[in-house]
Amino acid sequence: MVEDSPSRREWLAGAGALMALSALGPSAAAAVPVAPASQPATRASSPLLTRRIPSTGETLPVVGLGSWITFNVGNDRAARDACVEVVRAFFAEGGRLIDSSPMYGSSQPTIGYALAQLGRPATLFSAEKVWTSDAARGGAQIEASRAFWGVPRFDLLQVHNLLSWQEHLPRLFEMKRAGQLRYVGVTTSEGRRHGEIEQVMRTQPIDFVQVTYNPIDREAEQRILPLAQERGIAVLVNRPFRQGALMEALAGARLPAWAGEIDCAHWAQLVLKFIVAHPAVTCAIPATSQVEHLHQNVAAARRRMPDAALRERIARAVADA
Ligand SMILES: NC(=O)c1ccc[n+]([C@@H]2O[C@H](COP(=O)([O-])OP(=O)(O)OC[C@H]3O[C@@H](n4cnc5c(N)ncnc54)[C@H](OP(=O)(O)O)[C@@H]3O)[C@@H](O)[C@H]2O)c1
Repeated sequence: MVEDSPSRREWLAGAGALMALSALGPSAAAAVPVAPASQPATRASSPLLTRRIPSTGETLPVVGLGSWITFNVGNDRAARDACVEVVRAFFAEGGRLIDSSPMYGSSQPTIGYALAQLGRPATLFSAEKVWTSDAARGGAQIEASRAFWGVPRFDLLQVHNLLSWQEHLPRLFEMKRAGQLRYVGVTTSEGRRHGEIEQVMRTQPIDFVQVTYNPIDREAEQRILPLAQERGIAVLVNRPFRQGALMEALAGARLPAWAGEIDCAHWAQLVLKFIVAHPAVTCAIPATSQVEHLHQNVAAARRRMPDAALRERIARAVADA
């Protein structure tokens, strides 16, 4: 492939950002300045890209925080305090959405501990799940989760892995009507049960869907992401790094020279920008136990975004690395 000339590359990066912005609407356009490449990517100078939740118009930063495994640290005080630092950095960077589940061991109490230590940040957007095949236990499980987090109500409750969704969704819709939660969703991962997710998206008034999507796992592009746009459903993206395996595979590979054109200094940022530049995606939720990685990940929501051609180039570079 012929390398782009510098002037064409600069134009593409700028045009890519503008295309991404026009797909996002006015609030996103305000959120992502297209700065000259020479300007350093400082945190203060470049706000986080946000996306609208279609059902309300509320905006969310496009990078959130997962909690599976990374926050499952039990009662180990030092490990819990290390998680507090990750959450502190997340809010300091302007992050809002934290995702957890009753399936994630001690992650819920770890999050609750961190929120208490940090004075319960008002900007938190809490995303939880109900995960039980015994629908009669759903209410008690949600209440136990709420107590772990120490929040008055969850912003989003999702049916984890579609488990007994036919039984859980009526309860969640009722809780939403009663003001006991704000949004309802369903989740799956690793391409499982996409046909059933589609059925739920077509027939149920859900606000959010959560699926796996990254430069290697692209099945969601075929039907789920277009359907989400058509039906006005927000999309959370789990396993952006294939539970870390993708980052390990890329660890020894040289970052492409053109990564700087979209303000990426790490592979993790190329992967996250690939994901969040898709106009159907509302928020990617990478998990990390490290403050340094947290900063890298949230920085992917800043500055220039790839256009469609550059997204394909990222996918090729990741596959070939
Ligand atoms: N069905 C479902 O509902 C479902 C399924 C799966 C996941 N989820 C949600 O999605 C979240 C994300 O998925 P995931 O936890 O499976 O995996 P992931 O976010 O794809 O990967 C997490 C791993 O990536 C590493 N990592 C993070 N940032 C990095 C960086 N900048 N550089 C290098 N390595 C980095 C982390 O290691 P370090 O700790 O060393 O940074 C961690 O081991 C989960 O935590 C969970 O909240 C939901």
